[in-house]
Amino acid sequence: MAKIRAGIINVTGYIGAELARLLHQHPQVRLVAVTGRSAAGQKLGDVFPSLAGINHTIEAELNSEVDVVFSAMPHKSSTDIVAPLLKQGIRVVDASADFRLKNAGEYAKWYGFTHPLPKLLEQAVFGLSELHKNEIASAALVANPGCYSTGAILALAPLVKQGLIHPDIVVDSKSGVSGAGRTLSLTTHYSEVNDDICAYSLEGHRHLPEIEQELKELDPSLSFSVTFIPHLVPMTRGILSTCYAKSVDGCRLTTDSLKQVYLEFYRHAPFIQITTHPPHTKHVWGTNFCLIHPTIDSRTNRLVVISCLDNLGKGGAGQAVQNMNLMFDLSETAGLEALAIYP
Ligand SMILES: NC(=O)c1ccc[n+]([C@@H]2O[C@H](COP(=O)([O-])OP(=O)(O)OC[C@H]3O[C@@H](n4cnc5c(N)ncnc54)[C@H](OP(=O)(O)O)[C@@H]3O)[C@@H](O)[C@H]2O)c1
Repeated sequence: MAKIRAGIINVTGYIGAELARLLHQHPQVRLVAVTGRSAAGQKLGDVFPSLAGINHTIEAELNSEVDVVFSAMPHKSSTDIVAPLLKQGIRVVDASADFRLKNAGEYAKWYGFTHPLPKLLEQAVFGLSELHKNEIASAALVANPGCYSTGAILALAPLVKQGLIHPDIVVDSKSGVSGAGRTLSLTTHYSEVNDDICAYSLEGHRHLPEIEQELKELDPSLSFSVTFIPHLVPMTRGILSTCYAKSVDGCRLTTDSLKQVYLEFYRHAPFIQITTHPPHTKHVWGTNFCLIHPTIDSRTNRLVVISCLDNLGKGGAGQAVQNMNLMFDLSETAGLEALAIYP
């Protein structure tokens, strides 16, 4: 079988660089071109010494013949490049938020722009393979989910689908600094972040509408009220989310039966691991795994579910490659089998 020819638009961000690393070592993919704005004309290995083994020059435009493009552009910018690619018959996995929300009106509210391509929102598939595997397989455009959203939705989906919780939910998340991207900003300077932890986006983080959209799809009869508070913590990669919701009366769960609910729901999900102990972000460093630890606070009748992923792995580039695997009928795990780095 001929290798799939892949291109990366905007290789110079953290997601773009992680995609290059993963696609270079993918057994059924040939990375044929990478683009970037300010670094155009430079060797990839000169910009990222860790990628020196990939012999590519960063181009200003994508001019090579490709089967699939990964767009790692900032939000709002992907809308300009995706439609022309689709017209050429090229399939696209978009890492940005530009095609994740089904309701075009939400873009004005959460992202501050009027979506120019509302018809494409209908066509795009939300790329969470644990929920949308079949649609992803036949999609021309996959909207890769946000990093926080991935952890929260995966933690809550089995409970919502099985009708085990009230829809009044709290998601408390902690993210490493690479989640904010490679673009320089004062809030992510070493001396600002080191030895520090803080909450942010208390007025509503942009991943909240994705979380509510996907939970609502699992149970349209529920009116969700989700409080989602992200925190920035001094580590490079990783997101740990602790999700809280009251269990519905009479569901009579035990820790073991709750675990069974998750094992059953994710029985065909190769990157989900249900853990016996609370997971650590270090357990998923550089991997495409999402670890989930469901438990019960029997004193308060709350279910507490902890999820853990690498924001650049299952929360970003890894998940994008997983989606490509499904789109091209490859093994879902191809190129993504690596275990976490330890210690
Ligand atoms: N970081 C994560 O954990 C994560 C996870 C999931 C999804 N995502 C999404 O993936 C996308 C990329 O994220 P990232 O973290 O890789 O971003 P990033 O590290 O901040 O990279 C942004 C890159 O984009 C370039 N750039 C900025 N504005 C541009 C524009 N208007 N046109 C072209 N290039 C532009 C910059 O390069 P120059 O200025 O040097 O040209 C920079 O290299 C975003 O949409 C983000 O929301 C990120």
